[in-house]
Amino acid sequence: MNYNIAVIKGDGIGPEIVSEAMLVLEKIGEKFGHTFKFQEVLAGGCSIDANGIPLTDETIEICKNADSVLLGAVGGPKWDNVPSAKRPEKALLGLRAALGLFANIRPAMMYKALADACPIKKEIIGDGFDIVVCRELTGDVYFGNHYRKESDCGWGEMGCDDMNYSVYEVERIARRAFEMARVRSKKVTSVDKANVLETSRVWRETVTRIAAEYPDVELQHMYVDNAAMQLVHSPGQFDVLLTGNLFGDILSDEASMITGSIGMLPSASIGETGRGMYEPIHGSAPDIAGKGIANPIATILSCAMMLRYSFGLSAEADAIEQAVGKALDNGCRTADIASPGQTALSTSEMGQVIRDLI
Ligand code: NAD
Ligand code: IPM
Ligand code: MN
Repeated sequence: MNYNIAVIKGDGIGPEIVSEAMLVLEKIGEKFGHTFKFQEVLAGGCSIDANGIPLTDETIEICKNADSVLLGAVGGPKWDNVPSAKRPEKALLGLRAALGLFANIRPAMMYKALADACPIKKEIIGDGFDIVVCRELTGDVYFGNHYRKESDCGWGEMGCDDMNYSVYEVERIARRAFEMARVRSKKVTSVDKANVLETSRVWRETVTRIAAEYPDVELQHMYVDNAAMQLVHSPGQFDVLLTGNLFGDILSDEASMITGSIGMLPSASIGETGRGMYEPIHGSAPDIAGKGIANPIATILSCAMMLRYSFGLSAEADAIEQAVGKALDNGCRTADIASPGQTALSTSEMGQVIRDLI
């Protein structure tokens, strides 16, 4: 089969990690007889430099017409002072909205070989850590109005970000979480801040109502502050963690560290159609950009998610995941997951090792 993939390398380490992931897809193509046709497009800071704006209509059209989108990361200090509506990160939000990608699936699974890279004591981790964060992606405070106004009480200018959640938005993401739980350990923890926020009260009521459609799945509600604590206190209690856009962003970075590094966590952003956007959960890592030391595994595993979710190629997805597992079992480490004194591979060396194991 032929698959058209729009590729957004983006900024910082984006080009370094995406190049490795593209070579992995090519290797899969050779082995399984598929052709992956890549069309590279600009978004984020590099698009600001080239076009004056972070996301052009052309990029949106190419992504809409592709079978899927592979994205590295956008943003960096160079663009930190551009007006907020034109920041690189707006490209990501614009693409998520334009493509209707309301569900962000972020599996956080600790490879046994990486137990030493996990900062949590072995007796707390127990048998391991294997959860999936199901994050709503096109609502919440991210997509409310952002503005400034003069405060009424003489405290000067104030920044305002409207936080919204509609019943419909919560219903559709909740169903995704319950469906995922059905093929996992049948437990959903819905995380909100219903003791304070009206959006969270709509969230909790709606999730509770949708849960009735899935009587075989256990539902637990948890406040986000407690969830942040529980994730490091007893991570084994979680399976599917269903939450909103902002809380999901924060909790998935926290969960990633339990697996050893943020450089390990892939994600799938999906909607009603088969087309998705696949990207690591981390950012452009400006502190290590250009050094060739970034961990490409999150991006490579995002390709596995693309093959499985968008193209239905589960044997091919398994082949990538198994190769990553074997590379780690063989002691291959990039700097972020290496033990003290252990030799670290470069980004491209790690990519090559994984490809050789496919
Ligand atoms: P970050 O995720 O880029 O980096 C946080 C830390 O993790 C850094 O120390 C970095 O070196 C490390 N890290 C991240 N990915 C790594 C990898 N693959 N291998 C090894 N180490 C890795 O977060 P930040 O520093 O808060 O943000 C930097 C820029 O990225 C900002 O402009 C931010 O807005 C943007 N960002 C973009 C995305 C995205 O495009 N999806 C996601 C998050 C942040
Ligand atoms: C992510 C990022 C983005 C988010 C930013 C860059 C807009 O942190 O994909 O996790 O907050 O969703
Ligand atoms: Mn994030």
